[in-house]
Amino acid sequence: MTQDPSRRLLRGRILTFHAEPTDAADTSAYSYHEDGAILIENGTIRAMGPYAQVAAQAADVPVTDHRPHLLMPGFIDTHIHFPQVQVIASWGAQLLDWLNGYTFVEETRFADPDHCAAMARHFFDLLSAHGTTTAVAYCSVHTASAEAFFAEAARRDMRMIGGKVMMDRNAPEGLRDTPQSGYDDSKALIAKWHGQGRGQYAITPRFAITSTHEQLEMAGALVAEHPECYVQTHLSENHDEIAYTAELFPDAPDYLGVYEQAGLLTPKMLLGHSIHLTPREIAVLTETGAKPVFCPTSNLFLGSGLFDDAGLRGRGITNAIATDVGAGTSYSMLSTLSEAYKILQLQGQKLHPLRAFHWITRGNAVALGLEDKIGTLEAGSEADIVVLDACATQAMALRMQRAQSLSEELFILQTLGDDRAVAEVYVAGRPAKSVSPATVTRELCAAG
Ligand code: GUN
Ligand code: ZN
Repeated sequence: MTQDPSRRLLRGRILTFHAEPTDAADTSAYSYHEDGAILIENGTIRAMGPYAQVAAQAADVPVTDHRPHLLMPGFIDTHIHFPQVQVIASWGAQLLDWLNGYTFVEETRFADPDHCAAMARHFFDLLSAHGTTTAVAYCSVHTASAEAFFAEAARRDMRMIGGKVMMDRNAPEGLRDTPQSGYDDSKALIAKWHGQGRGQYAITPRFAITSTHEQLEMAGALVAEHPECYVQTHLSENHDEIAYTAELFPDAPDYLGVYEQAGLLTPKMLLGHSIHLTPREIAVLTETGAKPVFCPTSNLFLGSGLFDDAGLRGRGITNAIATDVGAGTSYSMLSTLSEAYKILQLQGQKLHPLRAFHWITRGNAVALGLEDKIGTLEAGSEADIVVLDACATQAMALRMQRAQSLSEELFILQTLGDDRAVAEVYVAGRPAKSVSPATVTRELCAAG
């Protein structure tokens, strides 16, 4: 009998969540198989469970044995900037100076389609290397950047969400659209890419400061015309940003009110940062189902402030979590959890490792309304899988010698792990960590 090349059986320790764990003892929230298997067919998970049970249904299927590593759903990053791969690690500024001094300068280079295509290859290499299989990305103002983003994601069969930023003021020449061109270009990109393969579109007015009232109205019209799309922007990240927004929109009740008046708030809206919120804004988030996105490494790097996870959750709000590269300082969702833990510690809040790993997998999928497609290893899910090695470095291996539980292993992964702890990643069932980062890095340095 010939083998079906689209079928593959992965063996290893397996962890997947069914719900957010309420506490450390909540074993009903997840499945853990010490000797488990995942049967993949045509990019989809067909079966998952104890190895003996799954292998019995897959007699002729080739087995990739990842034991003793841990297989989990691929990580989901709900806020990242594709044109900032060469902005990350820029010194010495808080939000508005950082945008004007570094970020806008760099994003003007994305007018060139060749630059966009080259950067898209690096961007997706980096995401894959860090175990991130889905991201929600801001492209630059140029349609060429969104074209490159979606084309490269499609080439790799990755489930990616993105959109060109709409920005028509308070930015340099070459980085501004107009209300009409921002609307038209976004509309054309939606028609071309939303639902094309695994691509999905996010309508993306960058933030209140870089959009006129007219542009936000046009973005609101797009949201009404395309309820199938996501919406993303930034909210209340920094005190100077909030004060400037109040000056620009004197008739709005507050920062969130600017977006609310433009008709942008829906459960498919992602609001990056959402740090310094008023009671009215929190009430509006609860009512509308719009989702705050916690960006820990970015909030520390830019000195923006401490995200009140427990306060928002206590109001029934679903928080997503993300890197926000290039203000964020790591592509790794593991490192992101490490900094999230510390930000919550500073506020007397706790982040248990089981909840943490739920957050970067199923939790972010729930925030995106995609938990039937990604974020778990249930049969029927798309086969995006990360293989984790908690002994990847000397420091991790030493600490692992003293670990006695799954929760401890997870905490070591999130506290000490990064791309080195990602042994393999599968995208739609195919191994995707094949690029040798060392080779690419040497070539880049030689060219620089
Ligand atoms: N606010 C508006 N644009 C940006 C951006 O690119 N990064 C961050 N961190 N905040 C923003
Ligand atoms: Zn951002």
